[in-house]
Amino acid sequence: AQSLKGRDFLMLVDFKPEEIRYLIDLAIDLKQKQKAGETHHVLKGKTLGMIFEKSSTRTRVSFEVGMYQLGGQGLFLSGNDLQIGRGETIWDTAQTLSRYLDGIMIRTFAHRKVVELARGATIPVINGLTDLSHPCQALADYQTILEQKGRLEGLKIAYIGDGNNMTHSLLMGAAKLGLHMSVATPEGYEPDADIIQQTKDHAAETGSQIRICRDPKEAIADADIVYTDVWASMGQEAEQKEREIAFAAYQVNEALIKYAKKDYLFMHCLPAHRGEEVSEGVIDGDSSIIFDQAENRLHAQKAIMAAIMS
Ligand code: CP
Ligand code: NVA
Repeated sequence: AQSLKGRDFLMLVDFKPEEIRYLIDLAIDLKQKQKAGETHHVLKGKTLGMIFEKSSTRTRVSFEVGMYQLGGQGLFLSGNDLQIGRGETIWDTAQTLSRYLDGIMIRTFAHRKVVELARGATIPVINGLTDLSHPCQALADYQTILEQKGRLEGLKIAYIGDGNNMTHSLLMGAAKLGLHMSVATPEGYEPDADIIQQTKDHAAETGSQIRICRDPKEAIADADIVYTDVWASMGQEAEQKEREIAFAAYQVNEALIKYAKKDYLFMHCLPAHRGEEVSEGVIDGDSSIIFDQAENRLHAQKAIMAAIMS
């Protein structure tokens, strides 16, 4: 087994392709053990602190349940109630929490904060979503694609909509794992330029083709996987109306999905807004695997925690 002990899990770009594959294989293994009722208390007696400065359903529940299933416990820490909300520094928070805990998961706004927390902590830090990235979701998504399609290399993902945190993590994962990915966004909503560059550099090593374009039909052509996410992410609520206008031609619906492969799978990290980024027919149709993705958050994160915290 690869040793990832003591590592932070902040961005997929920090991991080698074989390390990401190792985590996916471990997630599949832990999933089988859980389903078979086999005890796997590899984090017995350990505690994960979970700092939330944004809302969550999946991330909170899957981390807390995941720690329990691994023999340890998760501790929910609301950003509003911690002293960090009253101005205690990230450094002092990181140093203090490191004396009690064995790992910290944090969901927040600025990615910089997570990097600072990891720098100040002497224990592993996991990124549970920032404005820049959502690597736990992408790892679970690639596990889901592997389970459903039996392979990753050479598959094509089409991402239609906002070039956001989800897009960034999917891009990095695609480049590292050898999938092709086409992203269609309206003007002004493209993925971050640095992330695109880093993704293309890694793609050159794995043979993955990365394309950023305007036309949803072009992006979705012959896609094996069709992915979308909300038009206004957490923190962008005030832009909801202007975004609805900007993204009007970017809904994944019956008319657009015709251009994907016949055996396409529809994916969405959730929560979803039916009737906005995706039609009801597509998200609730036979090709939708949204709840398999949601389930795999549990297994993928258990793999991350088992690998870095044991
Ligand atoms: N996909 C995801 O991270 O969901 P939550 O916001 O519910 O955690
Ligand atoms: N892009 C979304 C993902 C939620 C899981 C957000 O940041 O709100």
